[in-house]
Formats: sequence, structure tokens, C-alpha cells
Amino acid sequence: MIKMENKIIAVAPMQGYTDAPFRHFHSAIYDGAGDMYCSPFIRVEHGEIRRRDLRDITSEFNSGMNLLPQIIFRDLDEFRRLVEAVAGAGYGKIDLNMGCPFPPQVKKGRGAGMILNPAELKRIVSAVNSYQEIHFSVKMRLGVTSPDEFRGVVPLLNEMRLEHVTVHPRVAAQQYGGELYMAQYEELRDALSHPVIYNGDIISPADINAALSHGDGAMIGRGILARPSIIAEWREGREWNDSERLEKILQLHAGIFDHYEATLCGDAQILMKIKPFWDYLEPEIGHKSFKLIKKATSVAKYQSAVATITD
Ligand SMILES: Cc1cc2nc3c(=O)[nH]c(=O)nc-3n(C[C@H](O)[C@H](O)[C@H](O)COP(=O)(O)O)c2cc1C
Repeated sequence: MIKMENKIIAVAPMQGYTDAPFRHFHSAIYDGAGDMYCSPFIRVEHGEIRRRDLRDITSEFNSGMNLLPQIIFRDLDEFRRLVEAVAGAGYGKIDLNMGCPFPPQVKKGRGAGMILNPAELKRIVSAVNSYQEIHFSVKMRLGVTSPDEFRGVVPLLNEMRLEHVTVHPRVAAQQYGGELYMAQYEELRDALSHPVIYNGDIISPADINAALSHGDGAMIGRGILARPSIIAEWREGREWNDSERLEKILQLHAGIFDHYEATLCGDAQILMKIKPFWDYLEPEIGHKSFKLIKKATSVAKYQSAVATITD
């Protein structure tokens, strides 16, 4: 496996999965793993910045990590409030979400919706360039319904002072499946004056090399959840066998589970937070254990279900 070490390997933001405990234990157990971890988006909800989003970036689990906090906004007002809050929490870099595909967000002009609102984006550009002390970046898709909609915002993106632009070569209407529009991705990459990080369907260490040939870095989302060792394997230049992968998955789980058990109150809360850990891991742990874990109604039953993985 050829390695391209000077390019960045980032862990993608995933709401409900890659929060602070996951990022911390992932980095600790896989020897540093990602060069950078992006936080799930921080948002304004019912007129207020969500407290738990801010708690995620201020958690002590972030210390020593290269965390890139991400915000999602519909207009200049939300943008400013979120930037002030993230900067107030001590961060000097912020990622701007222009890719979220969820229809309720997109309809309000947030996430990928921003690609279709160049008038508002123009106001954001001026604001970005006025925050001299903050390093901004963008994470985006190619469009909302058509993969050439990005063309309308390229000049604005190039006017922005950005560290990099991460591109997922799909449109919002596709959510997370279907064709990757590589020709349009390459057109966007070549039109941008910023470094471009490729993001999409990286599920094996070899895929990381392919991704790096498309840009200045690779960002991995679901591949991290399905194969948490993917970056460590790539760095080693060697694919791990089943038992090597499983051993580390169980260590990762133990770190996160112990944290939730120590800090949350009651079985329901603990199970709600920990069960999603397994969502993408059925191929690694087998159907039987996967089903038992999903069906567990108490922490005791859950622990017995997890124990069946190594039976
Ligand atoms: C459950 C889930 C939650 C996500 N949350 C976010 C988010 O908060 N911010 C964001 O920019 N992208 C989010 N994404 C998109 C991922 O960061 C990534 O762009 C997408 O999954 C494509 O990469 P992949 O094929 O490597 O998974 C989310 C994706 C999933 C599946």
C-alpha cells in the first residue's frame, strides 16, 4: 500500500456518533488516528444555540485533540452568533456546513441549502473575511438536486479566506447513497483556489489512497464507524485481520461505555447513547450479537449481549 503522508486524513462529523467521547477514545485507541476530527454541527434551535452542541466542543475529552468545530446557519445573524460562541469557547477555527441534506434544514436555507442562496452567502463571505483571527473552512456537496449547482457559488467560495473545502460528490437529494458525481467533483476541485479534501464512501484502507489521489486530503465518515481501525491500518500499510480489528473495537466500546455508565443516569439513557455505536458494525460482530445488542432493554442484558461477541 503506498502512503501519502503529507496529506490530511480527517474524521468526518456525524451527529449522534462522533461526539466527544467517541473522538477521544478513537484517537487514544488507534494511536492518534485522524489528523483532524470535525465536530457534528453546532446549531441554533428555537432561537438559542443548543447547549449540548457547545458542551460537545468544550468537553475535556477534546484536550490534546485537533478538533475542528462545525456550525450550520441559515443567515448572517445565525452565522455571527455561532461564530462568537465557538470563538468564545476558545477555538480559532470553524468549519461551515454547506452540505447537510436533511430537508427541514435545507428548506430553511441551512446546510446544502446555502448553495442555492448566493445572496446570503455573499454576506457570509464579507463576515468570514472580517474575522481575521479565525481560520474558516467549508464542507459541502455539489448541489441540492443537480450536481452542477455548485457553479453558482464558486466565485464566492474563492473570495472567502478558507483553509480548505471538503467536498462530498453527491447532491442533497441523494442523502448518503447513489452515484458519486466525480466529473463534477473534479470540476469544482479545479475551479476552487483552496485545498480540497475528498469525502465519500471511503470504506477500506486502499480507498484512502484512491481518495488522496482526488484531492489534498481525505475525510472519512461511515467508514470510521464500520471499520474504526481504517486509518490505523492505512498508516501501518497493512490490513488487520478479523481478530485484530475486533479486539480494538471492543476496547473502543469499553472506553465509551464506561464513560456513559459513569456519567449518565439510568439504563434508558445509557442504552440510548451507547447502542448506536454498533449501528455500522454488524459485519464485524455477526448478526446474532448485533440483534441481541439492539434488543437489550437493560444495561445488564446489553452487557450479556456484548459478551456474546467473543463467545
Ligand atoms: C448519521 C450521520 C450524521 C452526519 N452528521 C453530519 C454533521 O453533523 N455535519 C456534517 O457536515 N456532515 C454530517 N454527516 C455527513 C458526513 O460527515 C459525510 O459527509 C457523509 O457521511 C459522507 O461521507 P462517508 O461516505 O465517508 O460517510 C453525517 C452523516 C451521517 C451518516
